[in-house]
Amino acid sequence: MQTDVVIIGASAAGLMCAAEAGRRGRRVVVLDHANRAGKKILMSGGGRCNFTNLDVSADNYISDNPHFCKSALSRYTQWDFIALVDRYGIPWHERDHGQLFCNDSARDILDMLLNECRKAGVEIRLNCAIDRIDKTDAGFTIDSSKGMFKAGACVIATGGLSIPRMCASPFGYQVAGQFGHRIVPTRPGLVPFTLQPGDKARFAELAGIAVDSQVSNARITFRENLLFTHRGLSGPAILQMSSYWQPGEAVSINLLPDLDAAAWLKTRQAAQPNSHLKTVLSEWLPKRLISAMLGTESADQPLQSLSHRRFEAIAESLQHWQLRPNGTEGYRTAEVTVGGVDCDELSSKTLESKRVAGLYFVGEVVDVTGWLGGYNFQWAWSSGWAAGQVV
Ligand code: FDA
Repeated sequence: MQTDVVIIGASAAGLMCAAEAGRRGRRVVVLDHANRAGKKILMSGGGRCNFTNLDVSADNYISDNPHFCKSALSRYTQWDFIALVDRYGIPWHERDHGQLFCNDSARDILDMLLNECRKAGVEIRLNCAIDRIDKTDAGFTIDSSKGMFKAGACVIATGGLSIPRMCASPFGYQVAGQFGHRIVPTRPGLVPFTLQPGDKARFAELAGIAVDSQVSNARITFRENLLFTHRGLSGPAILQMSSYWQPGEAVSINLLPDLDAAAWLKTRQAAQPNSHLKTVLSEWLPKRLISAMLGTESADQPLQSLSHRRFEAIAESLQHWQLRPNGTEGYRTAEVTVGGVDCDELSSKTLESKRVAGLYFVGEVVDVTGWLGGYNFQWAWSSGWAAGQVV
């Protein structure tokens, strides 16, 4: 089959690119090996799809080239996507940190994209395994389980490695490698930490407890909830930090981010000397967490029996908790892949390869990784849109 554009990957970035190219009158075929389009859209945001954020800038993205994402993000903004969502009458709401979610279901976003594709005459072929891609003088030939496709332009929108059971594959990196592109090493991002055996036993009883916290390493700090789980630590503060974490590194956790804990304990000691440390601190933290952090014996001591030096040590362990994770839960549960196709070999305006004319990479397969909060979808929309203007 001869067509103008073949897009591989029928999800966020691929469908946005397809709808835009189709709207321009290009004949577009989208191929995907999955049995349905947009699986990750459907599972995103707990089923409500955190589809963008009110406050988007390059600072919310990780990339070896931190300027690369600016062009696409500034030409197709969160406001453009919100306007599209509003044209479809999809109800949405804002949560903390400017995150926008569907009121009803992530399906609304997928249906909107599929409808945009339908209006633009885009053909979508699912259950389609790609065997090989070759460059020809006229463009590309794509050999697949649904036959041979010939196209002037080929867009790779196959995402990253996270959640293999949702049809993630290394295909995009392999195509990039085939055409001589460098890959910035990949690792799981937005993923829970697992704990060293000692910490795991110590915190096993705390599964389900969530506390406001400040989590830092040498490069960045996040202030959000931290959640103890049966396997380790999760919650937004940990997920955000995981994208910046290097194996073996310790992270510093402040469980009382609004307090000078040592000074506060001194004032409490003067006011209620007979109260137990755990009871006093329970104004801020769950008692089980206090016992796990300080030891049951310490936690049960009356304030009057504790020296000011001891208060300093308690503050240190609660406000500068040095945690060295054992690792992460990996791609099995990671929301994104950090790293990917090196931005320096792509046009930031069009996402076209600088090595192979007519070849494009959009969405998560590129070395642009967003924070938690709708940033990854916004990159998928913006980069897909940018390529869709020129393919
Ligand atoms: P995406 O991974 O969505 O799509 C790739 C497509 O390519 C898939 O349809 C796949 O089947 C296809 N494909 C892969 N290999 C192929 C091959 N070999 N042959 C043919 N087809 C192939 N982000 C956000 O901003 N807000 C949120 O709420 C969430 N929530 C969230 C929850 C969970 C559980 C996960 C795992 C991820 C999120 N994300 C998110 C991240 C977001 O889902 C992700 O960044 C985007 O879906 C990336 O869009 P892409 O289109 O680039 O890849």
